[in-house]
Amino acid sequence: MTVFSGAGISAESGVPTFRDVETGLWAEVDPYEISSADGWRSHPDRVWAWYLWRHHMMGAVAPNNAHRAVAAWEDYADVHVVTQNVDNLHERAGSNQVYHVHGSLFEFHCDRCGAAYLGEVPAMPEPVESVDPPRCACGGLIRPNVVWFGEALPDRAWQQSVDAVINADVVVVVGTSSVVYPAAGLPELAVASGTPVIEVNPEPTPLTSTATVSLREKAGAALPGLLQRLPALIG
Ligand code: OAD
Repeated sequence: MTVFSGAGISAESGVPTFRDVETGLWAEVDPYEISSADGWRSHPDRVWAWYLWRHHMMGAVAPNNAHRAVAAWEDYADVHVVTQNVDNLHERAGSNQVYHVHGSLFEFHCDRCGAAYLGEVPAMPEPVESVDPPRCACGGLIRPNVVWFGEALPDRAWQQSVDAVINADVVVVVGTSSVVYPAAGLPELAVASGTPVIEVNPEPTPLTSTATVSLREKAGAALPGLLQRLPALIG
């Protein structure tokens, strides 16, 4: 089984999604200003402050029933989790094969020499406008290991994700608006090869019309009973 997850799977843990019109992160800030390689070059202090706040928030919340259900499926199947999320809630719920196609907000590296940063990351319980990022010994700035607009996806995670999708017997797509490419192309690979694709999302998405089944349900309600429903859903 391959699970392809987006921000919606973490919504019930209290992590805001990106594109919700009222509460989404992109309703609050300009994505390109705060989450792009250009934005980092022109104002790293604002980008760093924003990621510190998200890092703190993601560390302060807990996995929900949906993350836990995915982890529990490992008792019955070889489960691979491809996630666009930079939180670590799948791992904290107990999933063992997680591929972060958009990176992780729990790892940091130097933007000049690439060295991993293992130092302290300050607590940031409330958002602030500006915090200077730490400096590496080489003089570069420490940045999060997340993929920004204008950057390539990490090669290894991407290859593992493609392999997980093309080798799956069933793909469960949960909590993603399916609009951000190339990640959104992964479920399309499964559709093209005739693999059953089950979408779980309270709202319709561009994937809905081609998915084998689309469940208009929240992840925390749908995922705990999904394995038992599989025969009825996909035969
Ligand atoms: P979005 O914010 O675009 O979409 C979240 C989806 O989750 C929406 O389709 C919601 O309907 C759905 N949703 C909300 N609550 C849910 C729940 N309780 N259960 C199930 N679904 C729920 O988030 P992503 O699709 O993850 O990229 O966004 C993709 C990428 O856009 C992100 O990884 C990020 C952003 O730019 C980078 O940062 C590189």
